[in-house]
Amino acid sequence: MASSTLICDTEPWKDLKAHVEDIKKVHLRDLMADTERCMSMTAEFDGNLLDYSRQRATLDTLKKLSALAEAAHLKQKIDLMFKGEKINSTENRSVLHVALRAPRDAVVNSDGKNVVPDVWNVLDKIQNFSERVRNGTWVGATGKPLKDVIAIGIGGSFLGPLFVHTALQTDPEAIKYASGRQLRFLANVDPIDVARNISGLNPETTLVVVVSKTFTTAETMLNARTLREWISSALGPQAVAKHMVAVSTNLTLVEKFGIDPANAFAFWDWVGGRYSVCSAVGVLPLSLQYGFSVVEKFLKGAWSIDQHFYSAPFETNIPVLLGLLSVWNVSFLGYPARAILPYSQALEKFAPHIQQVSMESNGKGVSIDGVPLPYETGEIDFGEPGTNGQHSFYQLIHQGRVIPCDFIGVVKSQQPVYLQGEVVSNHDELMSNFFAQPDALAYGKTPEQLLMENVPEHLVSHKTFTGNRPSISLLLPSLNAYNIGQLLAIYEHRIAVEGFIWGINSFDQWGVELGKSLASQVRKQLHASRRKGESIQGFNFSTTTLLSKYLKASSD
Ligand code: F6P
Repeated sequence: MASSTLICDTEPWKDLKAHVEDIKKVHLRDLMADTERCMSMTAEFDGNLLDYSRQRATLDTLKKLSALAEAAHLKQKIDLMFKGEKINSTENRSVLHVALRAPRDAVVNSDGKNVVPDVWNVLDKIQNFSERVRNGTWVGATGKPLKDVIAIGIGGSFLGPLFVHTALQTDPEAIKYASGRQLRFLANVDPIDVARNISGLNPETTLVVVVSKTFTTAETMLNARTLREWISSALGPQAVAKHMVAVSTNLTLVEKFGIDPANAFAFWDWVGGRYSVCSAVGVLPLSLQYGFSVVEKFLKGAWSIDQHFYSAPFETNIPVLLGLLSVWNVSFLGYPARAILPYSQALEKFAPHIQQVSMESNGKGVSIDGVPLPYETGEIDFGEPGTNGQHSFYQLIHQGRVIPCDFIGVVKSQQPVYLQGEVVSNHDELMSNFFAQPDALAYGKTPEQLLMENVPEHLVSHKTFTGNRPSISLLLPSLNAYNIGQLLAIYEHRIAVEGFIWGINSFDQWGVELGKSLASQVRKQLHASRRKGESIQGFNFSTTTLLSKYLKASSD
């Protein structure tokens, strides 16, 4: 395929389009009855089991998807990513988040230079600093140890670290190291988020980590100034040096802000914001909370999947299979959304993180060469842990719209409880739902079955489940730092696979710029109106009216 050819113009794409008609003729009930097919539709790596038999797909579909992967040059694109080619062409950058979790002796090149030593310089610096803070060698301005950390950052400088922190919070091994310490995240510029974050904390014992790739993001910089004031008004301006550190690619702006570059932890432009949790963005706050050794296990888990993704044949490659099946669901079966349903409360912040990774990466309207696309890319991702979600939006998933679901379960609970006299433990109860829901979606319930159960006739249509609703089940062996790293990398690579097939640039995010620049015009206007009494100018009728009301009511 020439680089300017769209994937929809290739034979494998057209073949899959035609194949949809074959699939429409079969119900998942029948597909699930074919044991041979189901046996082929699993993949296992390092104790992680993917079962994709409940996809509306046959073995023939998989062959056709594999031809699509070939037409899209998927293997070559993966290779180029790992080789550090500048595949983020609109920003002229490599995409090398895999280098962030590479072992010391690995070689990963960007611009002809092995970046792994730089990665480990920063990791060593984090280990050293976090140990000093944790063991009280690094103290605050009044000599007290710093036991609480507020990490300021938004988007990719927030969601990934929050997901991992939330998942580790109940891991018995991680808990041991977190004793007496708190990690909080200040993301929103909303003053309520500031109030919640500083509530109950003493500046004397608090370390603030400002996390921003660019060090220009309006929300983060305002929150950083607010907390700098919180510290300096309590402890004096000189206290900032002891109580504020930074994570950024822009060390010049870090210094300009007033943070000593010696207390800054670098990363690089080849790390996309939403792919940065394995850089200092995540590693620093998490090491402060749990110690470096726990975070190192998380990195090792991610790296293990990187190796699997890079080298496993596509038929057994978990991220590749997931990516291809997502493309099948979105582009051929026409399902625009995907529900991420971890049956683990520890993963409650997983869906919000994946929302950014997926939707900021693949919500694009043009090909990597800038050609407007005649097909949609990306999914609408949302999710909640089971079983909570079951009591919220599952009604729609069972009887309303068809939403392909990701069921994520864990064999061993982080926190098992066994109640004397109970038939099942809490974890078995949770997992009963994890196993039952995919079948409920796939098989449904027919009017005939309902009549056999003596359901009154006027309720039969209400109680009918059409079934034929696709899902995947991903069963993880446990949920420790290593497995959490694996889960992260599975999704990161799956999303890259989708983008590679759709022929888009999954690593830029121009779509976030327009709103930012309009907000900056409004910000200027608010300033001019409040400080100099200037009238509102340059906005449409609606915005002018809303702004006038806001200005008037908020100054009353
Ligand atoms: O708003 C989009 C975005 O640019 C994300 O891609 C990024 O993760 C977030 O803002 C935060 O950016 P920064 O880390 O530069 O503050």
